[in-house]
Amino acid sequence: MAKKAARPSNSPGEGASPIPSPAEVAALAVCARHGNKASELLEIFHDLQHQLGYVPEATLPVIARALNLSRAEVYGVQTFYHDFRRHPAGKHVVKICRAEACQSMGTDKLCSHAERSLKTPLGGTTADGMFTIEQVFCLGNCALSPAVMVDERLYGKVDAKRFDEIVAAYSKDAAE
Ligand code: FES
Repeated sequence: MAKKAARPSNSPGEGASPIPSPAEVAALAVCARHGNKASELLEIFHDLQHQLGYVPEATLPVIARALNLSRAEVYGVQTFYHDFRRHPAGKHVVKICRAEACQSMGTDKLCSHAERSLKTPLGGTTADGMFTIEQVFCLGNCALSPAVMVDERLYGKVDAKRFDEIVAAYSKDAAE
């Protein structure tokens, strides 16, 4: 009678997926690049987000194992820092500054307008996947507040009307 093949050590019966997803593979590679050091967790999240556009939830246990941390520790850090997206971003990321100088120039009103105009809350993505809006704290453009950044491009003195014009320009580009 033929012998049964030994079960691989990461088989489903032992709590791990047999075939890691591309995101899990990417997370392992990023951790390895950082020497699997727990002290590099923030850098690991930054690199992973840079590579994948966000930090998928499926990567958290992988990171925890690689860094010898608990899942709760890794999850806690990811959710504490709003910079780390938990879902894929839209085609364009619109960052609205909410730091002091921009606050004094009406950024709260601008944020409310942006949420209404794009029909998604801060941190959310429009239904068509075109825009993600995020709050940030200082874009280094305080003299021209309220400041907004779309992808890598900075805009100053943005009021509701200007915001709509900026968004419309990106939408038009996408339609062409
Ligand atoms: S406070 Fe908004 S750009 Fe500095």
